[in-house]
Amino acid sequence: MGVHVAKVARGVGPKFPQIVILVGATGDLSQRKLLPGLFHLSHAGFIPGCRIIGVSLDDINAEGFRAVARGALDKFSTRKMEAADWTAFADGLDYVPLAAGAAALKAAVAQAEKALGGDSRRIHYLSVPPNAALSAVRLLADADLVERSRIVMEKPFGTDLASAVSLNAKLHEVFSEDQIFRIDHFLGKEPAQNILAFRFANGLFEPIWNRNFIDHVQIDVPETLGLGKRSGFYEATGAYRDMVVTHLFQILAFMAMEPPTALEPAPISEEKNKVFRSLLPLEPKNIVRGQYVGYRAEPGVDPESDTETFIALKCMIDNWRWAGVPFYLRTGKRLAEGQRIISIAFREPPRSMFPIGSGVGAQGPDHLTFDLADAAKMSLSFYGKRPGPGMRLDKLSLQFAMHDTGLIGDVLEAYERLILDAMRGDHTLFTTAEGIERLWEVSIPLLEAPPPVRLYEPGSWGPKSVHQLVAPHAWRLPFERAWRDPNRSGA
Ligand code: BG6
Repeated sequence: MGVHVAKVARGVGPKFPQIVILVGATGDLSQRKLLPGLFHLSHAGFIPGCRIIGVSLDDINAEGFRAVARGALDKFSTRKMEAADWTAFADGLDYVPLAAGAAALKAAVAQAEKALGGDSRRIHYLSVPPNAALSAVRLLADADLVERSRIVMEKPFGTDLASAVSLNAKLHEVFSEDQIFRIDHFLGKEPAQNILAFRFANGLFEPIWNRNFIDHVQIDVPETLGLGKRSGFYEATGAYRDMVVTHLFQILAFMAMEPPTALEPAPISEEKNKVFRSLLPLEPKNIVRGQYVGYRAEPGVDPESDTETFIALKCMIDNWRWAGVPFYLRTGKRLAEGQRIISIAFREPPRSMFPIGSGVGAQGPDHLTFDLADAAKMSLSFYGKRPGPGMRLDKLSLQFAMHDTGLIGDVLEAYERLILDAMRGDHTLFTTAEGIERLWEVSIPLLEAPPPVRLYEPGSWGPKSVHQLVAPHAWRLPFERAWRDPNRSGA
């Protein structure tokens, strides 16, 4: 598998060896995704050399950081690791505690560059809370590490329009926009990119991809997860800032944008930004905020907290393609199921010749559904005749599962894909300052007058009023019919 991937990798990775300055190196994201991802990218031959310098508040040394990295790989890497693979990776790890300051960081980078020899590039990955991002940027500037570098920033990019504008302005004092990669890992998910392939590599669907044929759209990302150790971060953030203004709106842009003139960063960003420009400001009456019972008792949470752990909203894109088509977005913690779907409901036929009782329309409109899980699935549902006498109709579906291709092992995890793209300087799947600022702008009515949070039971589908929001339609989830199981023969 390693050799196979290495062959495939040729030509898709960066040209130069990379020094990764990983700020927040011992944190949750770093352990769960970044260290395992960097391990896979280096080991599979996607990067022609890589050394990682961990930076964090923890007072440890390189040996301590290796132990953290080893623990993270053992716990979170989904791939097999031979002893020699680990030794090679561990050899490229170094660590500088934040307290050691800019000079120590500069020296560590110089040493890593020497070890790599020849020409190399720097990639700064800021995996830190928003309030720590700017001081990390200053540290990098003081350590004289801006040249030959790119910087990957984690969301949230500000907390409202003013803070996003100020963050972007301060960032631009040090890094130019083309060095900045604002990461939204949902766009690195294989099925998210498949939306582009599905829409623009086929002649079949694009002609019906508009208000004449589509009735409404749902982007639904319920999670069963609670907050674990993240309640401090979450209390200050909430579901809207954590998920909607980031991931869900990015997915909405891929779903709704016009065909870009090329599969390149500038044309794609331009089309996405046009969608954001056409988004109407969110109306509080079209928003349901929820909070699960028990949240206020969690550590780090205000006993009178107004933070939402659930949000559902209706938004409208006021352009020729989408005018009048509601987009319903929903996400929340501790809900009944973990799913990530986009569901497109088509208009129903204008008249029915089928007899009453035949079942036509009884199971909702035809739907095209994308499951954005790593093992992606797609389904197109339609009415068809039930075998036998008379004319009874059933809801049937055409389904595709990534499993069927036998290529599931080639899927890169979202973070892996995006880190590789940032190393190559490819902005296609990253968000721009303009796009982010516009999203904060449409958020103003919600942020200024948030509707009150309504309580919901953990394990439910959120507050009851969520059904009124979509009426006369209904939420697709929970599904009435399960996905076909791709592992079952004859499925
Ligand atoms: C993160 C959010 O960005 O995305 C989390 O901060 C959320 O709250 C996560 O759970 C969901 O990502 P994924 O890839 O697990 O669906």
